[in-house]
Amino acid sequence: RKRVVVFISGSGSNMMALVKAAAASDYPAEIVAVISDKADAGGLAKAAAEGIATFAFMRKDFASKDAHEEAILAQLEALSPDIICLAGYMRLLTGRFIQSYEGRIINIHPSLLPLFPGLHTHQRAIDAGQRIAGCTVHFVTEGMDEGPVIGQAAVPVLTDDTADALATRVLTIEHRLYPQSLRLLAEGKVRMESGKAVTTAKAPAAAGQ
Ligand code: GAR
Repeated sequence: RKRVVVFISGSGSNMMALVKAAAASDYPAEIVAVISDKADAGGLAKAAAEGIATFAFMRKDFASKDAHEEAILAQLEALSPDIICLAGYMRLLTGRFIQSYEGRIINIHPSLLPLFPGLHTHQRAIDAGQRIAGCTVHFVTEGMDEGPVIGQAAVPVLTDDTADALATRVLTIEHRLYPQSLRLLAEGKVRMESGKAVTTAKAPAAAGQ
């Protein structure tokens, strides 16, 4: 089983979806630790309750962004993960960090990339008059929310939708898509090659439904 470290900043519902998937004996990955940049992230207590090692590295405890990342990298060295999953981790990683784990860091983003990278994705999808919205799991590269796509899943945008209602609907499918996508990577059925996601699984790599 591949060793996975999950990075969070908040409630950790995607992290918990990965933990639940990994509880199945045929799942090809195990969650060995959770790292947060917020000491009060709700996900830390949830992970600890599952017996998973948790670590908080708060930016304000470090003199610089580089020093903060150094500390995280040192902890990762001790954990020796095969794969890093960003799950609501709201901080950009430096190129140096990403290169250290190239092709082995994935992220979930709550939009159908390349539409709506960055923040406030649900309100932006509503404002743009989109009829479908969704989520994307992708390899992490230096450009924010730009890396090659592993899988996507879609939901309808309903008349009179609010950003909160849409976010809740999208989150439900995030919880299916992320475990499916991690499975593909852990099984070696998708990899990053020359800036593209190459898959040997049946296309689409992970449709999420
Ligand atoms: C999720 O919707 C995730 O896609 C999003 O934050 C939420 C975290 O929820 N990520 C981003 O916006 C990344 N830029 P969770 O902590 O309950 O998994």
